[in-house]
Amino acid sequence: MAKKEVDAISGVETTGHEWDGLKELNNPLPRWWILTFYATCIWAVVYWVLMPSWPLISDYTRGIRDHSQREIVMDEVAALQSARADQGEAIVNADLETIKSSPDMLQFAMASGRAAFGDNCAGCHGTGATGFTGFPNLNDDEWIWGGSLEEISHTIHFGIRAAHDETRVGDMLAFGRDEILDREQVRNVASYVVSLSGGEGVEGADIEEGKVIFEDNCASCHGEDAKGTKELGAPNLTDNIWLYGGDVQTVIETVHNGRAGMMPAWDGRLDEATIKSLAVFVHSLGGGQ
Ligand code: HEC
Ligand code: HEC
Repeated sequence: MAKKEVDAISGVETTGHEWDGLKELNNPLPRWWILTFYATCIWAVVYWVLMPSWPLISDYTRGIRDHSQREIVMDEVAALQSARADQGEAIVNADLETIKSSPDMLQFAMASGRAAFGDNCAGCHGTGATGFTGFPNLNDDEWIWGGSLEEISHTIHFGIRAAHDETRVGDMLAFGRDEILDREQVRNVASYVVSLSGGEGVEGADIEEGKVIFEDNCASCHGEDAKGTKELGAPNLTDNIWLYGGDVQTVIETVHNGRAGMMPAWDGRLDEATIKSLAVFVHSLGGGQ
């Protein structure tokens, strides 16, 4: 073995490795480092024994503690689901008024109603339930089909003009397209309707004639006072809240072609607890009656 060479400047032994005249000093590792290193080795062995660690061909060493993060999560999920099922069952068995007046049930119904609204309804009614043209705002005090808990629940269950035997029906005729009224009459009655809420653009139309046409053709559904009929889904035409729009041109279009907004039925697609929660949630949005 070659004799160890000692570096003249530092007085430290070299390893014998040399690159272009640079020699490597053979300094030992610090003691604390060595001890920490041994400690981690021992800890690793202890860990292998206690905890899942080494992969095997189709399994892994489970360790004597048999710890499994996955099982812990599964247990927690199962516990949560059974707690929810209990609450969901309470919701199913209670009537809507009771849910509304019991703080615990109300809190649960509001939370699950809000979540279900985001998943199923926001696409048409908007995330804040403020609606779009043709899709009603559910926050206001104006209800086409009724704003009581029962009425809202009925609407959600069976939908509007939907594929369900009990769906809400009520169809506005296409007065122009089906030649029940001529163009002039459509314009006059539309102008009369717009004038009821003080809308603009009605100059030049015969409002008086429009009123007579309204009484003959429209009052049967929208009412003599044009305040609407909930059973038929015929909206109030006097409150300046419009599903399709209250300018003369849009009202002419509505009267010419009729409208038939469609809202799907949720009975069978959502469970009963969710539908009830939705009814409570929608009712609470600010305009429940
Ligand atoms: C495909 C679009 C669509 C979806 C999805 C939808 N709706 Fe509707 N909804 C409508 C339309 C359109 C109307 C108005 C129908 C009409 O002309 O009377 C309506 C009306 C309503 C009404 C009656 C409002 C009133 O003034 O009487 C309620 C309540 C309602 N929706 C709640 C919901 C809830 C809750 C959900 C989710 C479970 C939902 N809607 C999902 C389209 C939709
Ligand atoms: C057979 C019942 C029926 C008759 C008759 C009827 N309507 Fe309607 N009307 C409805 C229904 C139902 C709606 C709601 C349509 C929808 O939601 O898609 C409606 C909607 C409207 C709207 C839309 C309101 C809005 O908020 O945008 C206007 C305007 C209107 N009707 C005017 C008239 C006029 C004018 C007449 C007479 C020429 C008339 N209706 C006759 C049932 C009727």
